[in-house]
Amino acid sequence: MTAIAITRDERKVGINRREFLYYVMGASIALFSAELTGLLIWFLIPRFREGEFGGRFFSELSILPEINQPPINNDDGRFWLVNLDIEQPNQFLAAADESDVDIKGVAAVYKVCTHLGCIYDWNEASSRFECPCHGSKYRLDGRRIESPAPRTLDRFQVIALDANGNELAKSEETADGQWSPLVLPAGTARIAVDTGAKKEGSVLPLICEIEQTC
Ligand code: FES
Repeated sequence: MTAIAITRDERKVGINRREFLYYVMGASIALFSAELTGLLIWFLIPRFREGEFGGRFFSELSILPEINQPPINNDDGRFWLVNLDIEQPNQFLAAADESDVDIKGVAAVYKVCTHLGCIYDWNEASSRFECPCHGSKYRLDGRRIESPAPRTLDRFQVIALDANGNELAKSEETADGQWSPLVLPAGTARIAVDTGAKKEGSVLPLICEIEQTC
């Protein structure tokens, strides 16, 4: 074993070099642990609060629009709530080529145009969403009617909750990566829209091309 020499100075202050190194090592470990704990807490705490963009927004069923009727605006959440059923087409949700696509249920459509990010609006007169910047037009479910928008409007995930706040169902990801509308199951008391869970809209042919009106 190697003997550790103790200097006269160390004897004077009552602490030797080995003890000093132990203290330094202990302090380093304590500091590292504190940093690790802080990081863990930072990751675990939700970054966004309810009712704040990036978090969840809750809506009672009574405020949902009727099926295929004009959308309900949520300014703080930056989305439109729509209630869709392609099997009951009307002037707001005219059917295009979607016989094999399921467009039924509640969806939360992001209020930002997929072209260059302008805020579009619902146009009562034309029964569609219209962007004031470069003229993109979208159907009630967010599908493009006219370009230059490159894709369908983006959507947020919708969650059905029972009266106790338990989750009953959520919108699911479709084959092309979009959130599907959510058919609300029996027992749904209200819905939540998670504005932290956005998916880009699909790239589908323009409705005006299908109808040869472009
Ligand atoms: S930003 Fe909407 S059409 Fe260009």
